[in-house]
Amino acid sequence: MGMTSEAPASALQSARQAYEAFRARGLKLNMQRGQPSDADFDLSNGLIGVLGENDVRMDGQDLRNYPGGVTGLPSARAMFAHYLDVKAENMLVWNNSSLELQGLVLTFALLHGVRGSSGPWITQSPKIIVTVPGYDRHFLLLQTLGFELLTVDMQPDGPDVDAIERLAGTDPSVKGVLFVPTYSNPGGESISADKARRLAGLQAAAPDFTIFADDAYRAHHLYEEDRDEPVNFVVLSRDAGSPDRAFVFASTSKITFAGAGLGFVASSEDNIKWLSKYLNAQSIGPNKLEQARHVRFLENYPGGLEGLMSAHAALIAPKFRAVDEVLRAELGGNGEYATWTSPRGGYFISLDTAEPVAARVVELAEEAGVSLTPAGATYPAGQDRAGRNIRLAPTRPPLEEVRLAMQVVAACVRLATEEYRQGRGR
Ligand SMILES: Cc1ncc(COP(=O)(O)O)c(C=O)c1O
Repeated sequence: MGMTSEAPASALQSARQAYEAFRARGLKLNMQRGQPSDADFDLSNGLIGVLGENDVRMDGQDLRNYPGGVTGLPSARAMFAHYLDVKAENMLVWNNSSLELQGLVLTFALLHGVRGSSGPWITQSPKIIVTVPGYDRHFLLLQTLGFELLTVDMQPDGPDVDAIERLAGTDPSVKGVLFVPTYSNPGGESISADKARRLAGLQAAAPDFTIFADDAYRAHHLYEEDRDEPVNFVVLSRDAGSPDRAFVFASTSKITFAGAGLGFVASSEDNIKWLSKYLNAQSIGPNKLEQARHVRFLENYPGGLEGLMSAHAALIAPKFRAVDEVLRAELGGNGEYATWTSPRGGYFISLDTAEPVAARVVELAEEAGVSLTPAGATYPAGQDRAGRNIRLAPTRPPLEEVRLAMQVVAACVRLATEEYRQGRGR
């Protein structure tokens, strides 16, 4: 007999019983961390020793010394230019964090304006559009720098571009949009070619309206045959007659090592010069030795970077499938308790409860030993007004733990939903 045909009280009772059975097990599971697993990291352990003690030069540069400039080692520029589908002149390779690079570009924009600005953004009450649900660190970064955030929905084919056109079309203090174009965090949505073209050609009130595309999961496909096609904002912006409109960020944090990879950015040649000018004032250059290691390791990996991503997919795809299978088995596919995304790539799944019980689900899960991303984290200032969204991060735990954790999450969703419906008298 299904839940819907039971009397309300017994639906609540059986949901509580199922939950208590999990709670009694004293589990300790974590579905919160958007990190690679140790098995993912192990694929790149060769990186650590790929350079011998005599490998001190690459591209005619001494990897140990200062000279070389701020745009990065030529071989690394070429490699990651290929990755983002631009020319080497459009690429700057920095140190281990693309988030840091995003912060640097945004800070320079605040202090100096970008190309085409009438002055520093900081004097113009700058606003940035973000997508929701979205990535909590984007919100934290922008708010820490003093930007006002405007939100638009992330839709199955990317940001709500109609809403962006409305917001940016009339207000010159709307300086840009920051979002994840491929396999977004947390829903795994990718922007369509059509929406990307519209953004690149958008008639903004601000002459310096900028697309900040955090393409962290560009190559993070789960399935060989069923992939989202990444877009190219550098080329689209140029073709739309606004060559300086876009900065595209990415890193190897989810390719090699999360804390010890390389962050990089693609943009117009003029924007790379603009950025270099300010970076050069605060650094003589990035860590070339790390760049050389990545070049040597990735070019020698069987199948190159693509080959490495296929090896990651073999580890990660079963975990995404397990989340989907368990939720479907436990909660059904009709949205009675929750709906969730089934991405073709990336690192996350976004779950929306049918009732406004996300915070209660996270609380129940915590009490049952399953750590989830705090409810609300996918909205600026932690404020999910609908109270429904939960980010699931299946990459880090082993497959069997993902399965078990999702059984607990499903039990929590059922219990929280039944409690809510009971309290509301259905
Ligand atoms: C969308 C997105 N951007 C950036 C990052 C962090 O990137 P990095 O390690 O290059 O700073 C993450 C990590 O979870 C992410 O999900």
